[in-house]
Amino acid sequence: MSVGIDEISFYTSGQYLDLKTLAEHQGIDSNKYYDGIGQEKMSMASVDEDVVTLAANAALPIVERIGRESIGALLFATETGIDQSKAAGVYVHRLLELNSNCRVVELKQACYSATAAVQMGCALVARNPARPVLVVASDVARYDLGSPGEATQGCGAVAMLITANPRILALDPEVGNHTEDVMDFWRPNYRSNALVDGKYSTKIYLKSLKRCWEHFSEQSSVSYADIDYFCYHLPFGKMAQKAHSHLSRVNKSGQTPEQLEQQIEPTLKYNRLIGNSYTASMYIGLCSLLENSEESLAGRRVGLFSYGSGCVAEFFNGVVQADYAAALHKQRHQQILSQRTELSYDEYIKLYHYPNPTDGGDHRLAEQTQGAFRLAAITDHKREYVAR
Ligand code: CAA
Repeated sequence: MSVGIDEISFYTSGQYLDLKTLAEHQGIDSNKYYDGIGQEKMSMASVDEDVVTLAANAALPIVERIGRESIGALLFATETGIDQSKAAGVYVHRLLELNSNCRVVELKQACYSATAAVQMGCALVARNPARPVLVVASDVARYDLGSPGEATQGCGAVAMLITANPRILALDPEVGNHTEDVMDFWRPNYRSNALVDGKYSTKIYLKSLKRCWEHFSEQSSVSYADIDYFCYHLPFGKMAQKAHSHLSRVNKSGQTPEQLEQQIEPTLKYNRLIGNSYTASMYIGLCSLLENSEESLAGRRVGLFSYGSGCVAEFFNGVVQADYAAALHKQRHQQILSQRTELSYDEYIKLYHYPNPTDGGDHRLAEQTQGAFRLAAITDHKREYVAR
């Protein structure tokens, strides 16, 4: 019996800032963003959206197809949690009307926790194949205005159904891990924006990739040459190019820049338009590969590198299944991206500074999102989510 990803669906907010607008405001060449970091646009959550509404919107098509009864667990990965105690997934469980027998938990380790959730989901399914696991990764990436990270904001969620004999990607059990206590990116409880040592973070990312690969090579008989495509964690598109060149050098592959580009280019299309979505980023990259590759991917092997600052990282791989194309939500995803509206710089700033009430009063939130769920109010310190 194989175990892996049976269905994958993502969601992002209905508005974005074009990085040309940001560059214009900053008085710099927009090619720094378009070419230098490989990003064009970044999604901005509306005032009535957060990780819960993004996640519920991502998971809705999966739940509508499979039904509300069979899901055995909902594992919610995020690094922009909304509560120190209650798992955000419990709100999603209600919005999606899942069975009360479905267990829910939230996982945290920066951008890596979605991969922890996928691996835990695989273990649960291996133990009881009759109970699929819903993994949801959802984040709103925020950095200080004027900081180098500002252009690498974004938001999005991805939902994946983990099953036995999956229709999309059967995952190998052998993985390579690396964990190290470093301060490259973090967000103390009292801050709403992440702190980051940007250059250092990219160095640690590459070091972790090498270490994960070395560990993976000890565990698995799969070689670098056996892998057809590579999905990397995508804080920004250019990071994947840096990572893939690095891994190719580690393996002395002798590939040309064009050959390297072919192995990652289809993974970058969606993230280029969404920006960083932390835990969801690499899996939106996987969606991008599955839905934008020019050749059929059936039987192709995909390597995945998941990185979470702090840091924990993992290299793992899987094989795309024969009928994967029929299980995709390509049309829905392309519609979500094409129907977004562009923000002016002033609208972006207003949204960025929108107050996050902490006084326990009765705060009704303006209806902005076009999604199926919204955060309607924060009243008496309680978040009130509704279906639209
Ligand atoms: N045309 C073309 N390219 C240009 C350009 C122009 N006009 N101007 C600059 N560039 C190029 C630069 O040469 C540089 O390329 P290289 O990286 O290949 O050298 C690139 O654009 C970026 O320019 P800078 O190095 O000057 O960029 P910066 O210092 O302003 O910011 C950053 C870059 C540090 C990554 C910043 O965006 C940042 O801090 N981001 C947040 C942290 C982050 O994403 N870290 C990634 C690893 S950690 C992680 O992965 C977890 C996570 O999700 C956060």
